This record gives sequence, structure tokens and C-alpha cells, in this order.
Amino acid sequence: MGKAVLKENGVIWTSYLRFYYLSSAVAERSFAALDERRKRLHLPGLNSAGLNKLIWESWDWNAEGEEWTPSPEWKRSVLDTILAKHIPENGKVVEIGPGGGRWTETLLERSDHVTAVDISEECLKVCSERFSESENISFVLTPGDCLPEVEDGSIDAIWSFDVFVHINRKEVSKYAIDMFRVLRPGGVGVIHHGTVGGENGGWRSNMTAQGMIDELESAGFEIVDQFTEWTDQGKEHQAGLYGDAVTVFKKPG
Ligand SMILES: C[S@@+](CC[C@H](N)C(=O)[O-])C[C@H]1O[C@@H](n2cnc3c(N)ncnc32)[C@H](O)[C@@H]1O
Repeated sequence: MGKAVLKENGVIWTSYLRFYYLSSAVAERSFAALDERRKRLHLPGLNSAGLNKLIWESWDWNAEGEEWTPSPEWKRSVLDTILAKHIPENGKVVEIGPGGGRWTETLLERSDHVTAVDISEECLKVCSERFSESENISFVLTPGDCLPEVEDGSIDAIWSFDVFVHINRKEVSKYAIDMFRVLRPGGVGVIHHGTVGGENGGWRSNMTAQGMIDELESAGFEIVDQFTEWTDQGKEHQAGLYGDAVTVFKKPG
């Protein structure tokens, strides 16, 4: 087989093919080893608050987060079928991890006020420049597990997309308690997160689908929905590339 490939394609092409197979095998084994070690030794991987801060402070935000938008139809569908369905109009909203403002733009259009909470000062700076004309936005720097400066029971809805996929369960647990504190009775939350503890790669945290439900329920929330995909106008969409999910929850009352 090797000789036939060499004969038909030449030395250079065949060498690249060998290198491709070899490096794929090395990458696969390395990932399995680091995943196993992270779980066994309870390492934070790249998902601690400290590393998230470092990573996102130095991210190039020129694309305003649209590098994570797989298609304009997908984004439109997230806005129409998830955001508009659950985030009430004219409310007070907290967005956790606005990044370059990919969702903040729409939240600002439909809300009385948006509090943008991020672990990265750079993200808050980028958003404050991008939305400098808006009078209904304020910015809060978080240590990565809470919502400082947000008053108890003052918020109608919480939105966070492509953020909790990178946050470990230890910090998610603290966030759940603080989200319960700031939401008014009947207030809702929509959080996008990982489901398989990072096993699919994509630099996901140790969160699982059931882990998210457990953390939210133990903070006092009711779970409204949890889904990994949805259909809109006959087209199927996924919450993320790595089996990610969206969980919708509500503070009783
Ligand atoms: C992948 S970007 C997503 C940005 C934006 N939500 C979007 O979808 O385009 C991750 C964002 O989460 C923020 N972030 C990461 N860890 C955080 C934490 N523990 N608390 C708050 N924000 C965090 C980062 O600073 C960054 O703004």
C-alpha cells in the first residue's frame, strides 16, 4: 500500500501524508492524556478565573465576537427564537461576558438598561467605546464568579452566551447563587454552557448539562428548558460546535 501511494503521488506528497497521520495521532493522544489528568487531579485547565482574565484581556476584539457566529441565519435565529423569546422587552438586564458586544447591541435596543459584567477590563473598554452613544448601559468588572454592584432583586433577566462554556463548576456554583440574589422573583436567566465536561475539546470547562441544572436548582431556580439544538423555519441549528447547550431558568415567585 505504502509503495503504491509513493509511486502514484511522489515523495513530497507522501511525506506530508505520513506527517499528517502521525501528528493527528499525537494530537489525539495528547488531548486524551491532558483530559484524563485534568479530571484525576482536579486541575482547572484553561478555565480558571485567572486564566480566563489573561486570555480575554489579550484577545483581538476587532471582529466584535462575530468570529464565533457560524452564519448570519444562525445569529438571527438565536436572536429571534432564544433571546426574544426569553428576555423581556423594556427590562433591566445583566449580560455576563459581553466580549465585543455581539449580543449587547440587541439587548440594548430592547431593554431599559443593560449591565455588562465582564472579567476583562479590555472587553468593558471595547464595549464602552462601541456603545458610547447609548445611555442605558453600565459596566461592571467581576472577579469571575459574582455580579458586584448589582442590587438584590433588581434585575428582570440575565443573558450569557459563549461565556459559561469557559467557566469551571466552582465559579459557576458561586455565579448561580449571585444570579439568584440579583434577579427579581419571576426573573429569568439564559445561559449557554458546555455539556460534557470538556471531553469534546473546544477549550470547554468541566461543566456538564446535568451539573448546570444541579447548580441552578440548588441556588433556588426552576429550570424552564435545556436544549442543544433547535429548528427554525425548517432549518436545524446547534447551540455550539462541542455539544454545548442553552439552559433557561427562572426565579420562583
Ligand atoms: C468567547 S468570549 C464571548 C463574548 C460574547 N459573549 C460573545 O458571544 O461574542 C468570552 C467572554 O467571556 C468573558 N469571561 C470569561 N470568563 C468570565 C467570567 N468568569 N466572568 C465573566 N466574564 C467572563 C470574557 O472576558 C469574554 O468577554
